[in-house]
Formats: sequence, structure tokens, C-alpha cells
Amino acid sequence: MIYDIIVVGGGIAGLMAAIEAKKSNNKVAVITKGNLFKSNSSLASGGINAVLDSSNEEEIQSHIKDTIKACFGLENKNAISYMCNKAPNIIEKLVEYGVEFDKNEDGSIAQRSFGGGSSKRTCYVGDKTGSAIMQVLIKKAKTLGVTFLVNNFVMNLTTLNNRVSGVVVLRKFDSSVMVYPSKSVILAGGGYAGLYRGFSTNAQDYSGDMQAIALRAGLNLKDMEFVQFHPTGMIKTNYLVSEAARGECGYLVNNENERFVDELDTRSVVSLAISKQIESGRKVFVDLRHLTLEHIEAKLPSLYKTAFMQAGIDISKELLPVKPVAHYSMGGIESDMTKAKLKGLFVCGECAVSGVHGANRLGGNSLLDGAVFGELAGINALKFSKSKEYLPIDYNIVAKDQKMVDWIFDKESSKNFNSMRISMGKTMFDLAGIHRSEESLTKAFDYLKYLRRETATLHCIDKSRQNNVELSSILELKNALEVSETVVLSALKRQESRGAHNRDDFADENLKLRKSILINEPKKGYFKVWYEDNKFMLILQKIFTN
Ligand code: FUM
Repeated sequence: MIYDIIVVGGGIAGLMAAIEAKKSNNKVAVITKGNLFKSNSSLASGGINAVLDSSNEEEIQSHIKDTIKACFGLENKNAISYMCNKAPNIIEKLVEYGVEFDKNEDGSIAQRSFGGGSSKRTCYVGDKTGSAIMQVLIKKAKTLGVTFLVNNFVMNLTTLNNRVSGVVVLRKFDSSVMVYPSKSVILAGGGYAGLYRGFSTNAQDYSGDMQAIALRAGLNLKDMEFVQFHPTGMIKTNYLVSEAARGECGYLVNNENERFVDELDTRSVVSLAISKQIESGRKVFVDLRHLTLEHIEAKLPSLYKTAFMQAGIDISKELLPVKPVAHYSMGGIESDMTKAKLKGLFVCGECAVSGVHGANRLGGNSLLDGAVFGELAGINALKFSKSKEYLPIDYNIVAKDQKMVDWIFDKESSKNFNSMRISMGKTMFDLAGIHRSEESLTKAFDYLKYLRRETATLHCIDKSRQNNVELSSILELKNALEVSETVVLSALKRQESRGAHNRDDFADENLKLRKSILINEPKKGYFKVWYEDNKFMLILQKIFTN
């Protein structure tokens, strides 16, 4: 089957892109490797930031200012301005599609406070905003005639003469390798916080597939060292205790009943403060006991139920123990307003770096980023596909992927991919987590290199080709290890602390390093890491600081 536009990923960015790209006379497909209803977008439960009145220039400027501040010096001002100015229109669009945001008594959309925001601008649906939006977008895309190809694992892009020509996929149900030719491709398949397996809110399969595909297509990754730790994950299960809990006036207290941080400071600050408490032997809790049960049930219904089901805790009466957990990756595929450096390829959402999050991210800005840049990617891909013909497929790329699948099936091994995945997650958390140093990162790199070598001889124990979960998990692990090396190498290169990146051996920000780090893989296993040249920005900075 051929498509005018293929969208890889079924989260908010992918669906907004598909909806925008779909016209009555073209063929648009969304490819996902798993369940559509379980994308990471559903995790952004607390809300989506937007100024609702597009004529309120002062408030929009304030959203821009807060977003820039949270970037810790690595912002792209044009992209931020585009996103914040688009926000009112995006909320209108979501409402038109059917999203029922919570309302004030006068019928206007209610907004709550979120960390780092100087005013209440987070629109929400209780504490299940992401999943409420997703349900509406899935329905909208289906109504428009977008094709959904679920349970398809995208292995690589096919390219010709620096232009994308399609995608190679593994059909999970029979393990066959196929190619879908396409005039244009949008990568929107999420980030890599799932590399921190066992210490992350993300589903384990959010471990960098998109970034690995981009590396193999010769593209640069950017800002890979910046991984956001959400301040509050539930202790045993890593379930996300939404920032909405603090936005609804919940406190953070330690076991001496002291509040120790401004609960609504930006995430990197709150996470670090909690992690310091825990390292000094204290426990940290979300305290909602001063709120009425009625308020909790209205505004935090999912948390109320889940805390009881997963931890046996009644949050209206008891403290809820929490710890920071890897939640979001600010790094990803280098992009210029969704355009990647491969003709016909567009990237959006968490897999891409448009420069709106920099070294940190404002809570509530991820759904907005996904919606705004997803929409733009759809517009750009549609325009591109209208003016182009299909390219011939380079079957060498397909044959290589077929060979890889056969190799994984045909040979024997007793290695356990799951234990390798678990030790990768623990290594990332212990050595490349909230705190890092040259020593810890070097250890992490050596171990990840060892694991990556080991995956070369990782084979399926179960040889059945029908719905073989082992096969896709092995492919995922290979991607994950390739990408985890880029995180560690970028973190080693950045000899300072900035935003979510805390180097114990370089405690402060270094003005000279106020630029992004780029990384690519010219040859398998060999990476090139460098600072983006932004002399212009430094000159400007100098003028302003003199
Ligand atoms: O805490 C939360 O509800 C998460 C929101 C986000 O990541 O934007």
C-alpha cells in the first residue's frame, strides 16, 4: 500500500498532524507499534497551557516569558512565540473537535496553576486531560478517513537522494518486513524517558525508536542530555502524581512535616530539592489533607482512585509518598519548525527539538507543543506531498532489515533481553540520572557499550513468528542502547549544570556553554558530538550583559 503521507506515532502530535494532512482525495496513514490509547500523551494528565483570549497580548507575552525562563538559556524564541501565539486557536480547535474542558460557573474554560507559570493558564479535564484529548482526536482522525496501521514497528526510513521515500515496518502479527512507500513522512513517535526503565512514568517502549531511526538516516540529534524528572512519581509503581495535585494547592512535605521548596517552581528545581531530601535520608510526601474530599474528587479523580488502588492510601486523609521519576525528554531530532534535514521528512512532538523546552520544560507545555507542532507538521507535509511524485524504493535498506529479523530468529541464544533492559534502566538512573559526573557518566558509557555489543548476539528463544513480543523487544532494546549512548555522550560533553542536567563536578551554569549540543553517528557505534555554533547569540548576549 502506498500513502501520500505516513505519520509514525499516534500521540497528540501524530494525530494533530494526520488530521491536518488528511484531505478527501489523499491517503494518510498513522502507524503505531502499540495500543493507540496508551500513548505518552495520555500521561500529561494535569493539563495544557494556553492563554484563551488571543487578543490579550500582555498575557501571551507572559506565557512566552515563562516558557523562555524554563528553558535555562537554550530557547528558540521564534518557535516559542509561534507556539504561545497559536495556543488560543489550538484550544478552540480541540473544543470544536469535542474536548470538554472543565468549566467555571460562568461557562468559561477553567484554568489552574502549574509549575513555573506566572498566572493560571493550564486548561484541564480533571486529572485526565491527555487521555480525554486523545480519545477525541482518535475519533476525529477516524471520521476523516485516516488509516490506522497499529501493531507495526517502524524499523527504518527508506531514502533516495537526500529525500525520504517511505518506511520499513515489521508487522508484529506475522513478523514480516514490509515497506510502505510515501511521498512524505512525519515522525511523531515520542521520546526516550523510558530508557530509565523502572524509574520512569513512561511505558517501557518509549525508549528512543524515533531518535534511533533518525540517527541511522544520518540526521543529528540535539539536546539529548536533557531528561526531565517529574518531581512526583508514586514510590513503588512510578505512577505519575500529576502536577495538578500541586496546582490544586497540594503541599510537598518531608517526614519532619516541613515544606522545603516552592511547590510550583519549575520541575528541575522541585525534583532536585526532593532528591536532596531523599538523599539525606528523609521521606517526601504530597499532602492533600487540607483539601475537601469533594474538591479532590472533582479535580483529582484519577489520583484519588489510583493512590487507593496502588498504594492503599486515601489522599484526603493520608500523606502520599513520592519520588522524582524520568518523565519527558527535551532532546530529540533536530528540526526547524518541524522540518528535518531530509527532504519530505517532518518531525514533531516529543521526538523532535523545536527549541520550545530548552534544558527543562514547563509542565502543561508538552501537550501544547505536540498539538501546535503536530498541526504545523501536517500542514507542511501536505504541502510537500502535493508538489511531489513517489520515489523509487531503495530495496537495499529493506533487505538489510529483513536480514536483521532473520538473524534474530535463526540463531540460538540464552541471553535474556529483559534483564538487559532492566540493567540499562538502572544504569541510566544511577549514573546518568538527576545527578551526573564525569566519573558516573564514563561508567555508564562503558556499561552501555558492553550491553550494546551483547545485543548483537541476542536471538529469540521463542521461534514462532506469530505475535512474537520477544522480537520487537529485541529491536527496541537495540534502539534504546544506541540512543542511551547519545544521552550519556552529550551529558559528558556538557561540562556545566543547566536545567535538568546536573553535573556534580560542574555545579554552575557556564555562559560560554549556552548553546545546544548536537550528536550524530557517522558509522555504527561511532558518534560525533559538538556544540551548535551560535556565535551570533553569544554576541547578542554580550551586548545585553554589558
Ligand atoms: O503532571 C502532569 O500532569 C504532567 C504534565 C506534563 O507533563 O505536561
